[in-house]
Amino acid sequence: MDSQARRTLLDHARRAAEHAYAPYSNFPVGAALLLRDGSIVTGANIENASYPLTSCAERSAVATAASAGHREIRAVAVSAPRSLGTSPCGACRQVLNEFRPVGGDMVVILDDGEDGIVTSLEELLPRAFGPRNFVG
Ligand code: THU
Repeated sequence: MDSQARRTLLDHARRAAEHAYAPYSNFPVGAALLLRDGSIVTGANIENASYPLTSCAERSAVATAASAGHREIRAVAVSAPRSLGTSPCGACRQVLNEFRPVGGDMVVILDDGEDGIVTSLEELLPRAFGPRNFVG
């Protein structure tokens, strides 16, 4: 991914955070997914008065993308304006792993308020359990 593509994805995540519904935590988060066809799908955290029913931004975005038929996420950017460098929670790492490119890695970009911190799902979730465990 070149720096322009990273910047674009990060901008989408930042804008998505503006639509967060986070009245309980007051901790808005936005996520933007870069899909195999080059399109970008975003999501925000959606909290609930029954706290555990909250959907993180990453899982909101994955639900939207997968519901539209997308099955491969090449990169994800996460933006939490109140805490620079916020990284996906464990549950979201597992959900993202479901749509990791076959035989490849997923780029993960964390919003540091500048050009983004670049990491990968392999780094965040090593030795993951996923769809490949059901093959062969
Ligand atoms: N949250 C996300 O949406 N994504 C993350 O990566 C970290 C946490 C949300 C869940 C909850 O609405 C709020 O942030 C505080 O935990």
